[in-house]
Amino acid sequence: MKSIVILISGRGSNMEAIVRARIPGARIAAVISNRPAAGGLAFAHAHGIATAVVDHTAHAERTDFDAALAACIDSHAPDLVVLAGFMRLLSPAFVQRYEGRLLNIHPSLLPAFPGLHTHRQAIETGVRVHGATVHFVTAALDSGPIVIQAAVPVLPADDEATLAARVLAQEHRIYPQAVRWFIDGRLVIDDRGRVRVRGVRLDEAGCTVPPLETGEAD
Ligand code: GRF
Repeated sequence: MKSIVILISGRGSNMEAIVRARIPGARIAAVISNRPAAGGLAFAHAHGIATAVVDHTAHAERTDFDAALAACIDSHAPDLVVLAGFMRLLSPAFVQRYEGRLLNIHPSLLPAFPGLHTHRQAIETGVRVHGATVHFVTAALDSGPIVIQAAVPVLPADDEATLAARVLAQEHRIYPQAVRWFIDGRLVIDDRGRVRVRGVRLDEAGCTVPPLETGEAD
């Protein structure tokens, strides 16, 4: 049985999707938030999962916060650390400590739109296709070997909220899938920093594109 620690900052719907997936061979050892008010903590608690808060406002220096967070994570000895809407930048030392076992989800088709407000950027830029990416975390912001992506159309009538909802539905599909592959030992990072999924053809594994929505007036 492999153990997973999930880090959240807010509502925790991706964490919920991973918990609900009941991934065989995996146990969610803890859900840790940097915000005491994170909505996702209640869901985790109600599902019998250990919860903890490492409040970033209690630490003046980022490195102090990262050290406290690492100590909390390590007390659960996880095989995998999952960032699920965890809204703190992590120090290079922290990232290095969990190298190869630290996953993140980002609401864009990386390398497009790193950082915040990805849905607004997609609409303002006029891209026709947007989506989400699960990737291994490296020291640079929203970069690192890509495990899986899901694409969605950007429709003419979209605002940030409608586009975010369409992307989020895909996040909830691809994050449990990526975690399952990790737990099954199927993810291999090649010497050029690309992820291969053992036993799955890349055209099946790398991208999931839902059918285009129809019925728009223009
Ligand atoms: C998701 O869109 C995720 O991609 C981004 O932050 C959001 C978190 O949502 N990093 P939730 O807390 O998982 O509901």
